[in-house]
Amino acid sequence: MSFAANLTPDDLTGLRSGVWTEDLFIRAMRTGKHMAAARVILPPMPWQVLAQLSDDDLRAIWAYLGTMPTVLNHVPDPVPPVAAAAP
Ligand code: HEM
Repeated sequence: MSFAANLTPDDLTGLRSGVWTEDLFIRAMRTGKHMAAARVILPPMPWQVLAQLSDDDLRAIWAYLGTMPTVLNHVPDPVPPVAAAAP
């Protein structure tokens, strides 16, 4: 079970939290890796489509997202599937 990221520029829980940069955003969208590093970005996030955008388009999206009103919302980590109980 995945939870969509907080894309607002909130500086605690959103895309201006100090961890994210424009470069990290572009690399995450291109690689499909969470924070451009560790685990894969989970469905239904369509990173495979965003990965095909030009650098200019991704930079434009990054800039646009920075103009959104901030929302303080700590999004939970994804919850992995639970193995079925043995019969
Ligand atoms: C222009 C459109 C979009 C942008 C710029 C965008 C951006 C992002 C970013 C930056 C993340 C965090 C990635 C990371 O953890 O490193 C994310 C995660 C996520 N997005 Fe999107 N997104 C877009 C569209 C969508 C759509 C259309 C959906 C669903 C229908 C979606 C669902 C999700 C989900 C579920 C996650 C969390 C995935 C995970 O925890 O691994 N996103 N998105």
